Amino acid sequence: MSPRARLVICLLHTHTHICQCLAVHPSCAWCFQEGFGKGKSGVSRCDYKKNLKAAGCDERSLENPKSSVAVEENRPLSNKASGSATDITQIQPQRLRVTLRPGDSKRFTVKVRQVEDYPVDLYYLMDLSYSMNDDLRSLRALGNDLAKAINRTTSNLQMGFGAFVDKPVSPYMYISPEEAVKNPCYGMNRIPSVCEPQFGYKHVLSLTEKVSRFTEEVRKQIVSRNRDAPEGGFDAIIQAAVCKEKIGWRPGASHLLVFTTDAKTHIALDGRLAGIVQPNDGRCHMGTDNMYSMSTTLDYPSLALITEKMSENNINLIFAVTNPVQPLYKNYSELIPGTTVGILSDDSSNVIQLILDAYAKIRSKVELEVHGVPEELSLSFNATCLNGEVIPGLRSCSGLKIGDTVSFSVEARMRGCPAERTKTFTLKPVGFKDTLEITVAFECQCRCQARAEPNSPGCHYGNGTYECGICLCHAGRLGPLCECAEGDYSPAEQDTCGSLSNGAVCSGRGDCVCGQCVCHNSDFGKVWGKMCECDDFNCLRYKGELCSGHGTCSCGFCQCDPGWKGENCNCSTHTDTCTSSMHMQLCSGRGQCVCGTCECTQPGAYGATCDKCPTCPDACTMKKECVECKHFKRGKLFEDESCAWICRDEIRLVDDLTFHDKNAVNCTYKDENDCVERFQYYEEASGQSVLFVVKEPDCPQGPDVLVVLLSVVGAILFLGLATLLMWKLLVTIHDRREFARFEEERARAKWDTSHNPLYKGATSTFTNITYRGNRD
Ligand SMILES: *[C@@H]1O[C@H](CO)[C@@H](O)[C@H](O)[C@H]1NC(C)=O
Ligand SMILES: *[C@@H]1O[C@H](CO)[C@@H](O)[C@H](O)[C@H]1NC(C)=O
Ligand SMILES: *[C@@H]1O[C@H](CO)[C@@H](O)[C@H](O)[C@H]1NC(C)=O
Ligand SMILES: *[C@@H]1O[C@H](CO)[C@@H](O)[C@H](O)[C@H]1NC(C)=O
Ligand SMILES: *[C@@H]1O[C@H](CO)[C@@H](O)[C@H](O)[C@H]1NC(C)=O
Ligand SMILES: *[C@@H]1O[C@H](CO)[C@@H](O)[C@H](O)[C@H]1NC(C)=O
Repeated sequence: MSPRARLVICLLHTHTHICQCLAVHPSCAWCFQEGFGKGKSGVSRCDYKKNLKAAGCDERSLENPKSSVAVEENRPLSNKASGSATDITQIQPQRLRVTLRPGDSKRFTVKVRQVEDYPVDLYYLMDLSYSMNDDLRSLRALGNDLAKAINRTTSNLQMGFGAFVDKPVSPYMYISPEEAVKNPCYGMNRIPSVCEPQFGYKHVLSLTEKVSRFTEEVRKQIVSRNRDAPEGGFDAIIQAAVCKEKIGWRPGASHLLVFTTDAKTHIALDGRLAGIVQPNDGRCHMGTDNMYSMSTTLDYPSLALITEKMSENNINLIFAVTNPVQPLYKNYSELIPGTTVGILSDDSSNVIQLILDAYAKIRSKVELEVHGVPEELSLSFNATCLNGEVIPGLRSCSGLKIGDTVSFSVEARMRGCPAERTKTFTLKPVGFKDTLEITVAFECQCRCQARAEPNSPGCHYGNGTYECGICLCHAGRLGPLCECAEGDYSPAEQDTCGSLSNGAVCSGRGDCVCGQCVCHNSDFGKVWGKMCECDDFNCLRYKGELCSGHGTCSCGFCQCDPGWKGENCNCSTHTDTCTSSMHMQLCSGRGQCVCGTCECTQPGAYGATCDKCPTCPDACTMKKECVECKHFKRGKLFEDESCAWICRDEIRLVDDLTFHDKNAVNCTYKDENDCVERFQYYEEASGQSVLFVVKEPDCPQGPDVLVVLLSVVGAILFLGLATLLMWKLLVTIHDRREFARFEEERARAKWDTSHNPLYKGATSTFTNITYRGNRD
């Protein structure tokens, strides 16, 4: 709660009674000085102490009870148990007195240490149903072996023994044949065939240092037999816990109750099977025969009763059970704090290791439990376990070694006023005898009430009780001093309350008492003014907060805190949120800073500081137009005559650009005449933007036309000539080759004429076949 909100809450209860005032918030005080605040408006008897003193309240007239914590007993923690267990201290402090006023809280620290060599009382509670027969054998050696094994942890061990079967009543018991009542093993052809008659719970050996006695007593035991599978062991647990004298539990020792079984167990309401409906009373019912006498009268105990009795007697229960039933007992153990579960082998051979492990587990954990916390108090815990680490919300530490100190921070908050002025409750570690006793004094009464003056002459001739500075009027009387009677009516008085002028008496928010408006309390806030016309809750709200949470409401108007303005104080006057780290200008020069946020005016600009704008022209492009129109009197802006109002820049002509500011921008551009214009854009601290323009632009020199012409012609001529020469060369080479070939062929033709295939001889011979006889 912010201080302002608290103040409002104190003030809200201006007209309430003192005790309500003090209950509003732990920082509210009450001034019971006579006549305090008379004639001053806005002064309340219920306010912060410093405001009351500033308004003139005497220190002695202030009612402002303080919450406190006082340590009443604070013996230091013991290091080692020294023989006798009575003077060992394992929790510090031992007694506290906490004074609380309504709504307030106080914190204190509790330290817990498990001392070394702490005495141990171990009571072995054994299931003697038939199936446990083989376990008895292992148990005979238990006494000596356990004493030896546990010697490392404690030199001061006492052991005791008890046994249970189930309620000796049908249907849990064999009742036929008749012999089975005396010997439930009657007719079984197994060893042993003679068993003990069924019993509920039998205490055998009280806790003793003589280990040999344990062995001796166990040797004497024989098993019994019951009919249904579950046993009645929970009866035995309660009796073993509450019959303190019989069992011999020592007050200053660790109490271990080892419960061994291989079967399920009966729990509360199972007794109905045998017609037993009386709930277990959790008291000791052991006769001189060391037998549980109410076994057949009282039902089995509930888990809640077991939890209560374990805690009351600081007993750590160890369930040593066989594997098949382990999940069930695991579930029970989660419901009974300080309980551990170990898996027992079928013949109990591992019971020593089991007990040692369970004891180590018990001793490695410290858990705080609370008893009898008044309902007007709420407690919260933080644990500081090993290596100083604070674990919020935890009231236990585990993984500890004997001798480790842990501490718990406890906060007690008062939620309401009980009828009694003081109440007492205790905090204690589970399984420890040590407790921290806390007495809480509830500061619900006010000192000044004790001096109340009934029928005080100050309250109009005894028409009221004068208490804590104000008159509490008798029934039928009204007014700050009970000066008016209910029903007194005078039209003139009503008028001063505004009824005749605007119709509503006291603006409809108060009563007209004796001609004065007595404004009603409002759940929303304070109402005041002559006509109850003012209040502190009817002001503009923003996002649900009165005056945006940045101002006070006074008679309808927000009075803003420094740094805020506006009707509803939602407008920040700071501009630092409008500047980005990259641009020094507000909103990057692309918008206005309104109430601490940028409103981007440049199209396309966005971002918290308008810093993002992919489509925005840069400064050079924008300012180029201005240089053009303002300095050169040309360009688009000049033509449409918008130059004067778009470009507010100041033009300064310079010979060359110089360094002005690291935020100045150097720009160059080419104008329509191909001249390179250079200018610098610079924003002065006043916001005036200045354009330094270089007087002489860099214009290019005109090129020589003749030179160009001649070069072009020259180039063309040269190229043509070169082409011709090349052609000529190629032709010449070709001709030469042709000629050479011709010459060669001519030379060869001389030698080949005789073979000319075209050649024919100049003469031919014919034979005339008709010519005969001329020769004869
Ligand atoms: C336990 O140990 C101590 C020495 O540390 C020895 O004197 C004592 O006899 C032992 N007790 C048993 C029961 O073994
Ligand atoms: C033990 O509790 C768990 C979870 O509550 C449950 O699932 C399981 O069946 C219980 N086991 C027995 C044997 O009751
Ligand atoms: C516990 O720790 C939390 C946070 O660390 C703190 O707010 C709270 O006040 C503490 N409570 C106690 C009782 O110390
Ligand atoms: C209340 O005040 C009236 C005067 O207004 C007075 O006469 C009367 O005695 C007072 N009553 C008591 C009970 O004192
Ligand atoms: C302030 O409140 C007014 C009115 O509700 C609202 O229009 C405006 O946007 C708010 N301004 C800011 C910066 O939140
Ligand atoms: C602008 O040019 C001038 C002269 O060349 C130089 O001194 C200055 O540092 C330049 N400014 C920027 C921001 O580059």
